[in-house]
Amino acid sequence: MQQTLIETAARVLQDNWQGGFTIPCEGLYPFQWNWDSGFIALGWGHLNMERAKAELRSLLKGQWKNGFLPHIVFHNESESYFPGPEVWDVGRSPNAPEAKTSGITQPPVLGFVLEFLYELSGEAFLDFAGEVFPALFRWHEYFYTCRDPEGEGLVYICHNWEAGTDNTPVWDGIWEGLDSPEYLLNRRDTQHVDAANRPSNREYQHYIHLVELFKSWEYDDAKIAESSPFLIQDPLFNALLIRSNEGLIRMGNLLGRQDEVDQLQRWQERSLSHFHRKLYSPAQKAYVYYDLRAQQQLQAVSSSSFVPLFAGIPGADTAREIARAHFEGGRFSGASGDFYLCASFDPTSPAFDPKRYWRGPVWINLNWLLYHGFLRYGFTDLAAQVRTDTLELLEACGFYEYFDPRRALPAGEFRGYGGNNFSWSAALCLDLLKRKPS
Ligand code: GLC
Repeated sequence: MQQTLIETAARVLQDNWQGGFTIPCEGLYPFQWNWDSGFIALGWGHLNMERAKAELRSLLKGQWKNGFLPHIVFHNESESYFPGPEVWDVGRSPNAPEAKTSGITQPPVLGFVLEFLYELSGEAFLDFAGEVFPALFRWHEYFYTCRDPEGEGLVYICHNWEAGTDNTPVWDGIWEGLDSPEYLLNRRDTQHVDAANRPSNREYQHYIHLVELFKSWEYDDAKIAESSPFLIQDPLFNALLIRSNEGLIRMGNLLGRQDEVDQLQRWQERSLSHFHRKLYSPAQKAYVYYDLRAQQQLQAVSSSSFVPLFAGIPGADTAREIARAHFEGGRFSGASGDFYLCASFDPTSPAFDPKRYWRGPVWINLNWLLYHGFLRYGFTDLAAQVRTDTLELLEACGFYEYFDPRRALPAGEFRGYGGNNFSWSAALCLDLLKRKPS
């Protein structure tokens, strides 16, 4: 079984390789995406390290003059995706690079990806690590200087696409308060997959409205921080920044980059001293989101709520409390293990929808983050469970983008949804099967 999974996963990556970078999925996502490429590079690391390096080099071609790393780099032309480069029109910003890119970012995974790749190939990897380290440092510098208006070491996201969890119900209340114009949308995603499994048109109008605002402000960070109606401190985004700081500190030490290491450590301390205090909700027994506009926590629990385990953020007691409340018969596993780990949104909430994108389905990258998070705290049973669930879903359905988490499905229903032959599902399956425990 494992051998077949490995071979099929390798074929998915091979088919999505464009000679320089890897698309997430044919048709649906025909360009290079930021955090996808980080996870994809981990998969390539097991097959062909030169491709892993090429993947990261290609992404960095999209870096802006101020260090910002966009969520899409449009290396190629394609009519199959909306919004394309002409909608983003990032040339309005004085920081835009030569490459065509989007104007928002995505969760910063590259710092820890570098470390995980180093663990696969050791000393031989250091030349490459030295080559990309300065660009990654500058990306983090961008976050701490341009995205942290309250000086807490907690950076904001200004668009739901920056979260990576596009249509999570966490934002529903924010959309309700927005009076976005009713743009005529030229959506392409719903030509590739069933509209019932994607965000609604109204949601897309809000997404485009935010882009139009940022354009009108020439993508100026100070203006965005002051006026964007969407300004959130996201537990997944900030935990991955912290975990990537950790990766860069380790790599920087190996590379002898003392000044950058000292600076990263100062940022890290700032982040760690505020994270738990501001983003933990004792009522939910989970990390939640903080809405900087409303100046309050948003009391919804999603799979992002557990990513701080991956970064070693909660103390041992809090980590136990989280495991008991949400797994081990808790909310996300269900009293009798009713759900595969890990639903992307609280299955006990009325907003839970097991088939609609980030409103319930299981996503493989979140499972991979949770797996390593559980291991970090010594929760070996939970780690084993999330790994088994992941492999079982992939084996039964194929390398889909997301999966219905209910173990007992109504007769005749399939559980694999969204794009098929999805790159990070394949790449992280390879990593789960082939990485030796450290
Ligand atoms: C979807 C996902 C996002 C991912 C992108 C490309 O928008 O929500 O996280 O990066 O697709 O795969």
